[in-house]
Parts: sequence; structure tokens; C-alpha cells
Amino acid sequence: MQQDAAPPAVRDWDPETDDTLVCRAVRDETHDVKTFVFSARHPCLFRFKPGQFITLELPIGGETIHRSYTVSSSAARPHRLSITVKRVPGGPVSNWLHDTLKPGDTVRAVGPLGEFTPGGSEAPRKFLFLSGGSGITPLMSMTRTFDDLGEDHDVVFVHAARTPADIVFRRELDALTGPGRRLRVAHVCEGVGSEAHWAGFTGRLSLPMLGLIAPDFMEREVYVCGPGPFMKAVRAFLEEGGFDMGRYHQESFNFEELSAELAAGEPPVEAASAQEVTPSAGFRIEFAKTGKIFTCPPDMALADAASAADIRVPTSCSRGLCGTCKSKLISGTVEMNHTGGIRKREIDQGLILLCCSRPTSDLVIER
Ligand SMILES: Cc1cc2nc3c(=O)[nH]c(=O)nc-3n(C[C@H](O)[C@H](O)[C@H](O)COP(=O)(O)OP(=O)(O)OC[C@H]3O[C@@H](n4cnc5c(N)ncnc54)[C@H](O)[C@@H]3O)c2cc1C
Ligand code: FES
Repeated sequence: MQQDAAPPAVRDWDPETDDTLVCRAVRDETHDVKTFVFSARHPCLFRFKPGQFITLELPIGGETIHRSYTVSSSAARPHRLSITVKRVPGGPVSNWLHDTLKPGDTVRAVGPLGEFTPGGSEAPRKFLFLSGGSGITPLMSMTRTFDDLGEDHDVVFVHAARTPADIVFRRELDALTGPGRRLRVAHVCEGVGSEAHWAGFTGRLSLPMLGLIAPDFMEREVYVCGPGPFMKAVRAFLEEGGFDMGRYHQESFNFEELSAELAAGEPPVEAASAQEVTPSAGFRIEFAKTGKIFTCPPDMALADAASAADIRVPTSCSRGLCGTCKSKLISGTVEMNHTGGIRKREIDQGLILLCCSRPTSDLVIER
């Protein structure tokens, strides 16, 4: 009897060696939000945790711009990886993606990375998801993953939008609340827009409103993602309501806010000031392309010393996570403490992250 040949093994996407995504589809979600579906160039499985993000490296206007996007698709469907992008007025990358990227095009990406994930547990848990605007993406990935895997978590998903027309994934979320599911969805809109019969909540999410939507919210694990003011308001009313903030998790789409928060909890050992950066206090750093020269003390990150010397270096997360500040080291040595924003092979090629590298000698950097 002839045996069927085993199907060819599909290998995993390796964030160390793989970096090219092929756009397979572009879908309109709302008037200003699109989903981009990607695969690898060759059949590949993406292993990621729901809530993680990728950082795209895009050649726009003659330079390489980096922006991070949460994976919005289910971690249980590893053949494809989707991001869902809101068009930000005047924003170079979101508009480029909306106006330019089409099926068949390729983009370079780092990741998936990030720690805003619910963690693996098949035992049913009680979650409260609170999202504002495009901050819905990590919570949608979590919800899709739970549903695909049949994980019977009790989830209350509250999504805040400007108007009903701005609600992303509205139909899919409603469909996921069907019989046999323990997902409950509440939409909160600031105004009703052109929707004649709006049955959801109107106004801004508040503690009394949350009490109506999820009277047992104090028993839930809370995951929050949205614009800064939204997250600030949620945090304030949960604290005011006596919520145990040990069970509060948030993701900001603005790395600067995140870095500021981290810095607030850390001793101010590295606060850079122009005065501290004196020639006798550190190593000579030269940016070869622009001809800029500055001094960096051995205990200071290169990006901080550059900024103290009024030299602009593109940064985003400021903690070695997103890859925005990647630069080529031409000569010299550094001590780099990254958190995943650079691959080993890039380090082997002499690339460094300026936000988390300290000099251990004089340096020449291609910048
Ligand atoms: C970890 C992480 C995950 C992210 N995931 C997503 C995602 O899933 N979907 C998504 O659309 N964006 C996401 N972002 C934001 C994204 O990286 C870009 O900042 C955004 O697309 C705007 O880029 P831009 O170049 O068009 O405009 P920029 O020049 O970067 O921004 C212009 C202005 O718009 C503000 N802004 C940035 N993003 C938004 C937004 N989403 N809504 C309203 N105002 C904004 C910025 O603070 C800035 O003031 C994420 C960011 C991070 C750090
Ligand atoms: S700014 Fe994100 S890695 Fe340096």
C-alpha cells in the first residue's frame, strides 16, 4: 500500500532572522481604520502572545521611520498576522499605510514583542477589557484568541468611541457574544453621530457607568488600552473606587508616556543635563554622516547624551524595545541593555540601539 507523503513542515517565523512581511489583504474597518493582513514571504507560522506588537521599518520620504502596531489577529491563527491602523491626521506612517500599502507589497518588521498579554491559563478567569479608539487592537487579539481556543473566560469588553460609526470590529464583537459564549460587550460613545437608534451607552466612561455595565468589576482583572486621557481617567476612577491596582494592566500607544511612567518609578540616576556632559566627563561620540560630535559619560545612554547636547536622535520607547533608534556603530565599543528591539544578527553586523547603549570607549556612529 502506498503511503501519502508527509506534508512539508511549516517553520516558525524567527524574529532573529525573518524581517519581511508580505501584505496579503487590506480591509476597511471604519471610515478611518484599516486592517492589513500579512504573511511571511515563505510559508511560516507566527508565534506570538495576544497583546504583543510588531515594529514596522518603513522607507518614507527618503528616511527609515519606525512605528509599532499591535497584532490585532488571533494568536491561534498563526499563518497570518494582522495589524489594524487608525489614520492619524498629519501622521506620516498611518497615512502612508492607508494610502500606499496594498496586497503584494512587502514591509520590514521587528517582533512580535511586548508584555501586555493576559498570560496563558486555561482555567476560566474574569477579565474586564477597557479600550478607547484604536486601543481596541490588543484586547481584540486577546478576545479572538480566547474564542478560537475555546478558553471559557468571563470577559466584559467595554469599548469607548467617539460615535457608533467609529466603533472598530463592532459586528464581529457582537457576533462573539452569541449563545454559549461568556463575552459581554458594551459600547460607550461620546455622541450618537448619524446613528438613529443607538442602544449603547452615551457619554464618557465613568465609575457609575462601569458599575452598571459590570457590577462585579472589583473581582475582575483589568486590561486597559487607549489614548492617554482615556487611560488616565480610567486609572483615576478605578483607584477612587478602591480597585486593587495589582490587577490593573495597561498599554500605551505612546512610548513617551510609558517611558515617563517608568522613569517616575526609578531612581533618577541617569537624568541628563547639558552641564553634566562636559568633555572631561566622558567619551567622544561622533555622528559620521552629520558631523555632529558630543560627549557621553560612561553611565549615560547615548540617546540621552545626544539629546542633552541638543542633537536630535529618533527615539520612541527609550528602553530598547521598539528598534526606532537603531544605528550602525563604525568604531568603538558599547554596553547595550536591550529588551528585544534588536536581533542578534543585527548586533553581529555592528548595529546598536542608542537609547539603551552606554559607551565603553570613544565611538564613531553612522548617523
Ligand atoms: C506598542 C504600540 C502599539 C501600537 N498599536 C497601534 C495599533 O494597533 N493601531 C494604531 O492605529 N496605532 C498603534 N500605535 C500607534 C502607532 O505606532 C503610531 O503612533 C500611529 O499610527 C501614528 O503614527 P503616524 O506616523 O501616522 O503619526 P505620528 O507622527 O506618530 O503621530 C501624530 C500624533 O498623533 C498621536 N497619535 C499616535 N497614534 C494615535 C492613535 N492611534 N490615535 C490617536 N492619536 C494618535 C501622536 O501622539 C502624535 O501626537 C501603537 C503604538 C505603540 C507604541
Ligand atoms: S527608542 Fe525604542 S529601542 Fe530605542
